[in-house]
Amino acid sequence: MSILIKGGRVIDPENKIDAKLDILVEGNKISKVAKNIQAQEATIIDADNKIVAPGIIDMHVHLRQPGREDKETVATATLAAAKGGVTTVLAMPNTQPAMDCPEGVRLLQEIIKKDAKVNVLICGTITKGRLGEELSDIAALKKSGVYAISDDGCSVDSDELMLEALKKAKQAGLLTICHSEDKKLSGKGVINLGFNSTRLGLRGISNESEYKRVRRDIELAKKAASAVHIAHVSCRESVEIIAQAKKTGIKVTCETAPHYFTLTEDALLGYDTNMKMNPPLRSKKDLMAIKQGLKDGTIDVIASDHAPHTENEKDIEFERAEFGVVGLETELSAGINELLAKGVLDWPGLVEKYCLNPAKILGLEAGRLAKGTPADIIIVSDQEPWVVDKQNLVSKSKNSAFLGYSLKGAVDYTICKGQVVYKR
Ligand code: DOR
Ligand code: ZN
Repeated sequence: MSILIKGGRVIDPENKIDAKLDILVEGNKISKVAKNIQAQEATIIDADNKIVAPGIIDMHVHLRQPGREDKETVATATLAAAKGGVTTVLAMPNTQPAMDCPEGVRLLQEIIKKDAKVNVLICGTITKGRLGEELSDIAALKKSGVYAISDDGCSVDSDELMLEALKKAKQAGLLTICHSEDKKLSGKGVINLGFNSTRLGLRGISNESEYKRVRRDIELAKKAASAVHIAHVSCRESVEIIAQAKKTGIKVTCETAPHYFTLTEDALLGYDTNMKMNPPLRSKKDLMAIKQGLKDGTIDVIASDHAPHTENEKDIEFERAEFGVVGLETELSAGINELLAKGVLDWPGLVEKYCLNPAKILGLEAGRLAKGTPADIIIVSDQEPWVVDKQNLVSKSKNSAFLGYSLKGAVDYTICKGQVVYKR
């Protein structure tokens, strides 16, 4: 089957393309990008006045399968992904059981083969059971097909163990992704430490608990001469530390999530547990630093940190509620609203953060729209308004920080491996 996408604004920063072009998809690959392509047999999609971009590669997604299928499954998460314009997700390993051995990875691969509507890559754990005590067999995990390792949700406290992990990951050719948090400092905190935490009577999580661990993780990566990727950067000091490290040539990359460039700790004033995530929403100053980091290239990637939780786990006292928000279906719109519309990034810039940079970091061919690359493509109406509500979210869990928000930007088509997997 072939698909001809006609007359859209095609954005491919890798190949410096930002022009009104046609794209021909044959099989699971892009076979031609040019003006006025003719293809008799192809199904035609009219993309006039629309953005045509590579599918989003979201490198921070909690699928919850195996173990917490009441929150989300491979089937429901990848449906949400397709609706949000995401064609590849990196599945975080804090499942039950954790993805700490090849047997677990193989089991998940079977489920993916059966149920996934978009590409799902697996992230293995750094330590067994994510307990921070004993390293997983990192070489064996690589062999089983994982794309990265992380103890996401936790940080590995021991410097020695973390250094060893970075060395092993380097040997295996795997990326290490750090959830950089010093638990001794964040303790039982539930929101950002500051005036609001005092006013609300809630325990605070300091910036220090994040940036001190970011600094440590980068220092260890330098020692190991290995690459490191810092997950969900939320505060200004982390951005500064990463910027400095990049200048000295350390192989550090990082991501932030839409809530950190859209919302501040003021969203917590009503004790809304859908605003509770880890790291927490920070101050206006931090938000500005995140935007600046995206603009100047310090922050490479936007990822959702899609973290579904059931209503029972969210609709309770603030301190007991789970950390995390869903984000697959709103991440692109959030970027359009907060970054594109406010002049922080242009369309090629957005495509770099959502598509190209994660592809480069994970070593994927996708994230571009050149001849021969995988036909993972989205067609977007970037001015289309919509209101986020529980009814229009297809994720199994509805714990979005953007419920009730009017956003601009709707995905019209998501094409994954040459197949239309979502149509608005
Ligand atoms: O808010 C969060 N939720 N932060 C994490 O690091 C983990 C995630 C989850 O798994 O729910
Ligand atoms: Zn995390």
